[in-house]
Amino acid sequence: MDELNVGKVTLVKGTSVKAKVNSDLYQSTYFHNGKILRGIAINEFVLMRKGYQDIVGKIIGEEIIENYNVSNESLEQKRYERVIELYIIGYFFEEKFYSGIKYLPMINDSLYLISDDKISEIYNFKKTSKTPVINIGKSMLEELPIDIPINGVFNSHIGIFGNTGSGKSNTLAKLYHSLLHKIITQHSKIDKSSFTLIDFNGEYGTLAKSFPEICHKIDLNTKSDGDKIIFSENEFWDDELLSVLFSATEKTQKPFLTHLIKSKLKYDSDLISYLKITIDTMFGANQHRETVNLLKSLVPLFSKDSQALIFDELAKF
Ligand SMILES: Nc1ncnc2c1ncn2[C@@H]1O[C@H](COP(=O)(O)OP(=O)(O)O)[C@@H](O)[C@H]1O
Ligand SMILES: [Mg+2]
Repeated sequence: MDELNVGKVTLVKGTSVKAKVNSDLYQSTYFHNGKILRGIAINEFVLMRKGYQDIVGKIIGEEIIENYNVSNESLEQKRYERVIELYIIGYFFEEKFYSGIKYLPMINDSLYLISDDKISEIYNFKKTSKTPVINIGKSMLEELPIDIPINGVFNSHIGIFGNTGSGKSNTLAKLYHSLLHKIITQHSKIDKSSFTLIDFNGEYGTLAKSFPEICHKIDLNTKSDGDKIIFSENEFWDDELLSVLFSATEKTQKPFLTHLIKSKLKYDSDLISYLKITIDTMFGANQHRETVNLLKSLVPLFSKDSQALIFDELAKF
């Protein structure tokens, strides 16, 4: 164990843990076995050793408790006890960090300071050393670089949450900026992928300006001379696209569109046979009385000579 022992756990209550810190540890940095360790302070991480796992806690509170059993003359360090409050964030197993409260410490487990290597491991989201990553910034406290894997972030669903003005759009722009920068500078394999960014508020225009080689920007405009998105015929005759364009309801209007497009694909090249099949159905075995009546009502629209002929034909039904 190359970490420095600094105290022990004194209270475990749900996921909140309290630990007593040794009395002589008031510095913000320590040198131990050639490593720089960060001292005990709010927001710093500490380790609690439990069997094969090193549980990682984040310091969220500190207090001094007076020890009344010690006489006033004794050293100040002995008269006061320094207690820190911790929040468990995960654990180390075989040098890898796993987030989540799978293990909790027990009373009297030893408390250790954590080295920067281990903190980097906490902020490390890649599975192996070969995973392609992009850098999105650095941790605020330790100033350690934060890399996130490209696979798993850009090819899945992500959500960025925050109040208005908290930097959501900025974060998204930064993500794509870092990705495109990587593609340009390192010719990564991901240049086979393509991304479509629909920008309603015109916030991401700088991306296209910064990477003109690989970005193509369309300024959509409904006026006749503005930019347009061109759909091919195949793409247009698609039930998903049409139901989005027409805001078709899922249960009633969309099935109608789906049916329509299926029939269109089937008979598109051969309208004559479609007409034949339709007439067959109309006058086939199970014809509707209403169809015939409807046709009869149309007869006056035809020329005088034909009217009698059509009536004769329709009379058969
Ligand atoms: N990381 C950052 N550093 C400095 N300023 C930022 C940062 N992120 C956002 N901002 C600023 O904060 C403001 C709001 O950011 P924005 O991304 O538009 O927020 P949101 O989309 O969450 O409403 C902008 O003026 C932006 O310049
Ligand atoms: Mg925004």
